Amino acid sequence: MGSYQRVMVIGAGQMGSGIVQVAAQAGCNVVMQDIKEEYTERGKRTIATSLSRFVKKGQLSEAESTAILGRITTTTDIGQAETAQIVIEAATEQMAVKKEIFKKLDDIAAQDTLLATNTSSLSVTELAAVTKRPEQVIGMHFMNPVPLMKLVEVIRGLQTSNETFAAIMSFAAELGKTAVAVEDFPGFISNRILMPMINEAVYCLYEGVAEAKAIDEIMKLGMNHPMGPLQLADYIGLDTCLYIMEVLYDGFGDSKYRPCPLLRKYVAAGWLGKKTGRGFYVYES
Ligand code: CAA
Repeated sequence: MGSYQRVMVIGAGQMGSGIVQVAAQAGCNVVMQDIKEEYTERGKRTIATSLSRFVKKGQLSEAESTAILGRITTTTDIGQAETAQIVIEAATEQMAVKKEIFKKLDDIAAQDTLLATNTSSLSVTELAAVTKRPEQVIGMHFMNPVPLMKLVEVIRGLQTSNETFAAIMSFAAELGKTAVAVEDFPGFISNRILMPMINEAVYCLYEGVAEAKAIDEIMKLGMNHPMGPLQLADYIGLDTCLYIMEVLYDGFGDSKYRPCPLLRKYVAAGWLGKKTGRGFYVYES
């Protein structure tokens, strides 16, 4: 039996639904919350599709898949945080939105409930400071696609207690993930290294050093990356990539993090990658 039976996840997008899925696969009862029912419904469909891929491969039985889905409930009411032992926030990557959510969660959740954020680059310390329990706030940064990726980057805010840290490290292990701890600085480790690489690939395209496909082939075949940087950027979402570059640029005040103008232009055009059908590549719906 895992340490947390009642888990709540705020946000039913790509990351939120993935976190809900792995928690339910680990045996937790999970509430998936988002602001609209259509979002939680879409989240449930994403989870069902992912589980069916595991069933097809014989890694899960039909009965297990049904039981996992049975452990998931959905709501648009954040008030359900009242009964959660741990809440993981995976809402929009905007500090103002996250602060609002954390203030509400702090009011609603029981005193000993831990509040985790899946932020990919924002300050956990700043987010923790809007609550009256900053020592119980921590970063749990999952990777996309959550059901397949082994890593959870655990980010200790300045005020995070040793107890919270230890509890989250064990919880991540119970979810079948490998937790790696880092300190709270912009982009942490994952995106501080990944995003400048992606941004540099966009610069290569912008300067005409090579075409998108060639840039990706070089990094795939030459460095053994599973996806090329531009393909990965499309997969993550170009708006997210740009946002994280801005966080690095603002946070360090160092010109080496300046976002490529071509990345800005694509985002301005609404070419956000796979999710909009066009980014550096064009996707069939
Ligand atoms: N659930 C279940 N199974 C899935 C899945 C999902 N969500 N997504 C893919 N799969 C399965 C597929 O069914 C397929 O199974 P088979 O091999 O048995 O057919 C297998 O995974 C491989 O999928 P594909 O053949 O479609 O494609 P692939 O071989 O390229 O693998 C990938 C897909 C695992 C995503 C791989 O390309 C990869 O590892 N890419 C890099 C991902 C990465 O870097 N993620 C981090 C992004 S950064 C981030 O998340 C942090 C941030 O803050 C921005």
